[in-house]
Amino acid sequence: MSLSRKLSQRLADHVNDIDLVSLSRISEARLTERALPNIGLVELVSAKDFAKLYDALYISMFPHQPERERSDLITDRLQEEFAGQRRDLAPYRVVGIRDHDGKAIGAAQFSVLLLPGYAVPYLQYLYVRIENRRQDMAEVLHTMILAVATADAKAHDNRSVPFTLLETKPAGYGKDDASQAVATQRAIIHTKAGAVAIMLRRESDGTTSSPHVQPGLEMGDPPLSLVWAIRRSPAMVAQAIDVVDVKHIGQDLIAAYYQSLRDEGFPEPNIRLAESIRLARPAILRYGKHTKETEDKQFVEILEQIADRDRSLKSA
Ligand SMILES: CC(C)(COP(=O)(O)OP(=O)(O)OC[C@H]1O[C@@H](n2cnc3c(N)ncnc32)[C@H](O)[C@@H]1OP(=O)(O)O)[C@@H](O)C(=O)NCCC(=O)NCCS
Repeated sequence: MSLSRKLSQRLADHVNDIDLVSLSRISEARLTERALPNIGLVELVSAKDFAKLYDALYISMFPHQPERERSDLITDRLQEEFAGQRRDLAPYRVVGIRDHDGKAIGAAQFSVLLLPGYAVPYLQYLYVRIENRRQDMAEVLHTMILAVATADAKAHDNRSVPFTLLETKPAGYGKDDASQAVATQRAIIHTKAGAVAIMLRRESDGTTSSPHVQPGLEMGDPPLSLVWAIRRSPAMVAQAIDVVDVKHIGQDLIAAYYQSLRDEGFPEPNIRLAESIRLARPAILRYGKHTKETEDKQFVEILEQIADRDRSLKSA
């Protein structure tokens, strides 16, 4: 049994010439044993199917409204993506997994940010229903995120996809014990699934802070300081990261992130506020030697750490 036999026709056509095995952190034998027997279908989700099958699960997995994007914005974007009406915008995708009865097991919702020379899937939401946890479903979704993004990136000047960018709450963050526990748990899961957080380190005393400030998604919502994490593509582990212009990686990601929020029509005052907090952050923290260059260097060090760890995982 192989993952490619589970793909819907639309998804199979999309990732036609992409080697899924090279994009998976786990072996085919483990996939065949744990995840595949429970999967009916893996698909590129349409607006209609999102509303019918996935939306209720999405809402139940992210009950806290300010961190959840409005469902009608998601379905509008999917509608336009499927109709080929997003040609000047970052591709927007939802990859979903259904069980043998056609019910939603989980999904990944992401944009494919186009940066100079490369592309980065920007994972906004990843969720798996409770009864299918710890079956490697999230690993299957991570593999398909890379596959879909790789296909999208090829269609945009043959860019390559060095890593997935995802966001999570800082570990231990939250207003009560329960939400703090959830934030810590998510951070642990992302780390175990191969991601490393990006933080800025103040050289004078080693204090860390996040470079990621998310604007309030609705007018009047406050900005949120979240954590960005990077999960390197297993296909790129053996290669150097020379596809990425290391001199500008941090700044390019930040610029592409805010640009995509603008392109998608999120409230401009909220974006400006988040950007100004983000810009002020190093200054507020009085970074010893903080410059754009030191920030970029930290991104690169993180990528190298992930490569080392993934190499040892594959050879284990
Ligand atoms: C995060 C989430 C998607 C993980 O889904 P999943 O399909 O259970 O994850 P996988 O089975 O692919 O796990 C891969 C690895 O991650 C780690 N992991 C997953 N769940 C874990 C848990 N509860 N505790 C510790 N490690 C965990 C493990 O290393 C696991 O491998 P293992 O089972 O061999 O130990 C799921 O827990 C979820 O939907 N949570 C609610 C929504 C959410 O928090 N999403 C993330 C923020 S967008």
